[in-house]
Amino acid sequence: MKVDSYLSSNTGDIKQLFTSVFTDSEGTSEGVLIGQLVHDIVTLTHKEDLHGYVAIDNDKIIGCLFFTRLSFQQGLSAFLLSPMAIQTSYQGKGFGQQLINTALEELKKQGVHLVFTYGDPAFYSKVGFRQITEKTAKAPFTLSQPEGWLAQSLLGEDIKPLPDQPYCVEAFNKPDLW
Ligand SMILES: CC(C)(COP(=O)(O)OP(=O)(O)OC[C@H]1O[C@@H](n2cnc3c(N)ncnc32)[C@H](O)[C@@H]1OP(=O)(O)O)[C@@H](O)C(=O)NCCC(=O)NCCS
Repeated sequence: MKVDSYLSSNTGDIKQLFTSVFTDSEGTSEGVLIGQLVHDIVTLTHKEDLHGYVAIDNDKIIGCLFFTRLSFQQGLSAFLLSPMAIQTSYQGKGFGQQLINTALEELKKQGVHLVFTYGDPAFYSKVGFRQITEKTAKAPFTLSQPEGWLAQSLLGEDIKPLPDQPYCVEAFNKPDLW
């Protein structure tokens, strides 16, 4: 498997990938919702606020993840990893962890300090994320599952508490997504 940067020419394949993976794992309506979220991310987000990476096997895209900017008043460079999908037939073979680890190395080279995600700690703890509370860093909206609020420093430091509420990019600017 190799990892490449997401290109806008990949959009059709990527939207299809997210829709089918989330339909398989969580049902049709979630598949449609995440497909739409991905469409919004790639069409509405400014280039400097977006990083996307694809996993390729035999010239075919088998996975993808996006990072979008979370803006804190402190001015540190922070991104949110969401969403992520590995094609259903490729799951459980280590590709997801490989894709995240490669993407995080790229973000670190580009000077990103902090990465957040909102998902299952059992999976994301395998790639350096730790559960945090909103005393350490607030989310842009009220979290329906606060146990899924996770972060890691790419500088290898403890995360110092960030008092202000960050804002997210437009695609995530919907309370229901949180
Ligand atoms: C979650 C996902 C990205 C993980 O990628 P993957 O390539 O399947 O995962 P890996 O093979 O690298 O890692 C597997 C490990 O993570 C765990 N894991 C995999 N998917 C998991 C999930 N949905 N929840 C919790 N743990 C999970 C497995 O238990 C496994 O642990 P083990 O090796 O100790 O048994 C992928 O399964 C997927 O796309 N799932 C459906 C969509 C989704 O849930 N996306 C994430 C939310 S945005």
